[in-house]
Amino acid sequence: MPPVSLRGRLTAGLLVLLACACAAVGVASVLALDRFVLDGLDHQLYASGGGYAASLEHSQGDTRGQSRGTFGARLVASTITQAAVVAPQRDADDTSANGATLTLSPGDTSALAALPADGKGHTVRLSWLGDYRLMAVPGQDGDTLVTGLPLVAAENTVHRLEAVDAVVFAAALLVTGVAGALWVGVSLRPLRRVAATARGVTQLPLADGEVALPRGVPYTDPRTEVGQVGAAFNRMLEHVGDALARRHASEQRLRRFAADASHELRTPLAAIRGHSELARRHPGPVPAEVRHALDRVQAESVRMGHLVDDMLLLARLDAGRPLRREEVDLTRLVIDAAGDARVAGPDHRWRLELPEEPVTVPGDADRLHQVLTNLLHNARTHTPAGTTVMVRVGPPADGEPWWELSVADDGPGIPEEVRGEIFERFVRADLGRSRASGGTGLGLAIVRAVVGAHDGSVEVESRPGRTVFRIRLPAVDGGVPSH
Ligand SMILES: Nc1ncnc2c1ncn2[C@@H]1O[C@H](COP(=O)(O)OP(=O)(O)OP(=O)(O)O)[C@@H](O)[C@H]1O
Ligand SMILES: [Mg+2]
Repeated sequence: MPPVSLRGRLTAGLLVLLACACAAVGVASVLALDRFVLDGLDHQLYASGGGYAASLEHSQGDTRGQSRGTFGARLVASTITQAAVVAPQRDADDTSANGATLTLSPGDTSALAALPADGKGHTVRLSWLGDYRLMAVPGQDGDTLVTGLPLVAAENTVHRLEAVDAVVFAAALLVTGVAGALWVGVSLRPLRRVAATARGVTQLPLADGEVALPRGVPYTDPRTEVGQVGAAFNRMLEHVGDALARRHASEQRLRRFAADASHELRTPLAAIRGHSELARRHPGPVPAEVRHALDRVQAESVRMGHLVDDMLLLARLDAGRPLRREEVDLTRLVIDAAGDARVAGPDHRWRLELPEEPVTVPGDADRLHQVLTNLLHNARTHTPAGTTVMVRVGPPADGEPWWELSVADDGPGIPEEVRGEIFERFVRADLGRSRASGGTGLGLAIVRAVVGAHDGSVEVESRPGRTVFRIRLPAVDGGVPSH
């Protein structure tokens, strides 16, 4: 398996290249030394001119001036007549004849016989003596004189060089591997910083609100590729930061506009409502159409007043305006809201399921009341008469540290086409009927916004015959739940 990381790959590539270079240098130096040593031996053999071999013709041969291990042989018509080797001279003073006559094996004999008498060096393995450099020259009386020098010393020199090469190259590879990995690691450090910063950005909630992007990666040399990546990344981060800031500013402007517009609409609306009320109370005879028109003005201005109030509330919640934080008696709230619903919808069956102990949550009582009213209003207006509505307060089924408030009905359910976006603004099913029943599609948007401002959550589950809205509210302000 080749290494996966860039650092591993670069280091491995470096090592492979260095190993190739070492191998080339090693092979070249060993071959050159080998050649050099052989040339030296050949030169020595050539200089001796077969003198030792020629001297073998008489007695043990003249070993004077011959180095240890010198081999000599005399061949007449490819048959060895004499062969001897200069034995190691242990004592410098001992000048006695120390050449030893040799009996050669048949293999050696044929190797010697095959040696061309060309005055050039040849490497031959002799069975008792090991590797020899041999040179054959024609003698004076038609014989062939073979002189040889042992290759042991030359081979040892070459082996020593091989060993030194191996140790030095291994050390060089080791040092290069460690230092190279460190160096590559240091060079790639800016890339790791880019990755860490990018990872940090992906964990930020970029979708909404004001986003503080992390500072870019520290200054890196723009002349290097890695530095260019860092610089480009920093520029990108700046652009994204600018874009996010502009988006946030325009969102803020839009919210302020919605809040201001809703707020400004309240005064003229109050005036319209007041004046239409005044006109309706006019004591004189008023034609039926005019009375009807005034009734409509009155009813629509009331409806518009609710709409404006809802929009203002949403705009304020959007702007993150903090809600009041007080101990809210959820049990009391449910009893009151259900009581109101029972009066408003006498044709529905209203059921309550409350814990024995009163339940309190931190929050804004008016807003929570509005949440409950919106849900109960929906359960009443979007279901036929005779529907049973069950309001329940208790710990959630999965034992989480929240209080759960649920409103369930056995009505027709939320139409499938709007089920997924039911909490969005101005989303309503069956537009014609909703408009007739006065709905604007802001009720559930307000529920979600208020519950969100209480750090709670809301979810819906709906099918024909059963619709449940579940609201979860933290039991204690950011603290330990009370159950
Ligand atoms: N209990 C329910 N049963 C069936 N449909 C429901 C129920 N609650 C809500 N819906 C559907 O969800 C839509 C959105 O509800 P939402 O309360 O946001 O708006 P609305 O009730 O139409 O108007 P508003 O509450 O602003 O007066 C409704 O129009 C209705 O179609
Ligand atoms: Mg509603």
